[in-house]
Amino acid sequence: METVMRNLFLFLSKNKTMTKMAKEHGLKFGASRFVAGTTIEEASKKIARLNDEGLCATVDFLGEFVNCEKEAKAATDESVHAIETIAKNGLDSELSVKMTSLGLDISDDVVFANMRRILDAGKKHDVTITIDMEDESRCEKTLEIFKTLRKEYDNVGTVLQAYLYRTLGDLQILNEYNPYLRLVKGAYKESDEVAFADKEDVDENYRHLIKLNLLYGNYTAIATHDDSMIRYVKKLEKEHNLDRKQFEFQMLYGIRNDFQKQLADEGYRVRVYIPYGQDWYGYNMRRLAERPANVLFVLKGIMKK
Ligand code: FDA
Repeated sequence: METVMRNLFLFLSKNKTMTKMAKEHGLKFGASRFVAGTTIEEASKKIARLNDEGLCATVDFLGEFVNCEKEAKAATDESVHAIETIAKNGLDSELSVKMTSLGLDISDDVVFANMRRILDAGKKHDVTITIDMEDESRCEKTLEIFKTLRKEYDNVGTVLQAYLYRTLGDLQILNEYNPYLRLVKGAYKESDEVAFADKEDVDENYRHLIKLNLLYGNYTAIATHDDSMIRYVKKLEKEHNLDRKQFEFQMLYGIRNDFQKQLADEGYRVRVYIPYGQDWYGYNMRRLAERPANVLFVLKGIMKK
């Protein structure tokens, strides 16, 4: 049943009509549980509150699969504005971006020009930018963008997904770039030709990647809500005498808030991924796919209308 629900929500996440309707109607149907507002000004208030509780942030202007240059430029302008707002308000926050929102599907020239503008703004204001990883068909191109930009900028990181067979090889190749890597299990619907279908295989690969990247000495963001993975990292920390400055935990806004705070109180760096904007539909559907129990929140949201 859980697999059927997961596939259903991942299928719905790509529905263009629903995406368009959602954009026009603001944060509806429980969307505000996972999305911090429609503007960076609204999101900033939530970031400030989290900073007060000892948590840091990475903020993301929602948007993906853009195929028009004007929209990609608008997403770039907004990301630069977000960086300036972070700096102006003295917030402890990084920025996350999706390459398809900046023109990956349009052309290399467009996506590189937009990313360089964002990275220059980040460099000026001391803000690190993480390139989110999207579906497998864009993985190779996204990693090529990262590798090119990493040679020019210190303030760029990216994401690797444990469910892909290719990821172990990617992690080994990226080692020579001394990368800032966020490791995740993976959130998109992929075929078993490219990704592990069994959760246990994904989890085993995830543990392997975490250990390898930490022992390489690369800065590692372990982005998960899974207790067993967090216990595993704590075990590695003890066994290998790891410096806490070499890694951090990351979780999504609105998920396991108490746990986020608890880890920060234990002295770990914890970063909350904070999405904002109108384009919340695909993002929220992926959160429902991860945990169909969250549907209850959506139903409550609908009942309130
Ligand atoms: P898993 O899904 O196995 O769940 C383990 C446990 O965590 C569950 O039993 C439950 O207790 C809790 N949990 C998990 N999801 C929950 C939810 N939605 N609500 C409530 N509880 C939940 N993916 C990607 O493909 N590209 C990317 O760039 C990113 N970026 C990213 C950034 C950050 C900061 C995070 C935390 C995650 C991502 N992801 C991502 C998403 C990631 O790939 C994955 O889909 C989710 O994190 C869910 O997987 P978990 O590791 O949490 O474990």
